[in-house]
Amino acid sequence: MFEIQQTKANAHSRRIRMAEINITPEGKPLAHPAPRAPRIFADTAAYEEIEPLYRAGIINGVTTNPTLMKRAGAANWDDVETISKRICELLHPNPVSLELTEVSQDKMIEQAEHLGSWAENVIIKVPIGGYQALDPNLDPYTGLKVIRALWERNIKTNCTLIFNSTQALWAANAGATYVSPFLGRMADYARKNDSADRTVGNSLYWVEEQPTAPEDQRVLNTEYVASGGARKDTGSRLINEIAVVFTNYDIHTEILAASFRNAAQVTECLLAGADILTVPAPILAKVADHALTDEGMIRFVEDSKVFDTQSASA
Ligand code: E4P
Repeated sequence: MFEIQQTKANAHSRRIRMAEINITPEGKPLAHPAPRAPRIFADTAAYEEIEPLYRAGIINGVTTNPTLMKRAGAANWDDVETISKRICELLHPNPVSLELTEVSQDKMIEQAEHLGSWAENVIIKVPIGGYQALDPNLDPYTGLKVIRALWERNIKTNCTLIFNSTQALWAANAGATYVSPFLGRMADYARKNDSADRTVGNSLYWVEEQPTAPEDQRVLNTEYVASGGARKDTGSRLINEIAVVFTNYDIHTEILAASFRNAAQVTECLLAGADILTVPAPILAKVADHALTDEGMIRFVEDSKVFDTQSASA
């Protein structure tokens, strides 16, 4: 099987050019020994979920999308504006991703400028592709062109709906500040479509036999699965592939791992080399707890009661 490689020196050289994050708003460095440690964002538009995580110092960014906005109660653009501005104000100067909903280049740029006028920490989320799935007459490169146009205007972007490392590379080349690979949806897809009679051609694609095709096109590498073996790790493998490509070529676009389904994927993504993890609040709410932590805590508190019942001189 094809094994992916990266060197520690490359990883270091890429990371030291990234922004320091473990500093207070006044610029005081925290004691944390890794000033460029991976950041955690909350993947939600619900203020009541964001606020406690932010105040606890767990998150320093937020990502949203139209589905999350709807879930947070937005029923029209006025609601989206109110919700977004409230989150941006709380999080400032940390980034808050707001997704474009227009699908043609001019309108997307106009919408990006409008969303960007709501707060200076807005990051514009741009879908990498899917335009022709909506309308065959649309330009398939719309997302990349918009990212480039926004880069020229110094507007930061988060390129979303990434499912392979080449999409991530195109987005980075276009000027994206962040790329968002969806590891959870990739893992869901692989689990649903896994089947023993399909051959993994290399680490990246299924081999599809096309008996009716001309001789030289009979074997097609069609469907990306980011799979190095066990299907359950395909999502993390996707993150790792992008991390290795970006590290080996010293690409500074940040890898914002998205679409988490469980806390185990959080650990996997940290090991895979993600720069940022955007995680749903219910998963973040659970990571400080563990069955053995609970057990240990109950025991410590129980044992400490003896100190209250005996005097210091006894
Ligand atoms: C993040 O930026 C994405 O909008 C989000 O993680 C998608 O997650 P889902 O697959 O749970 O919808």
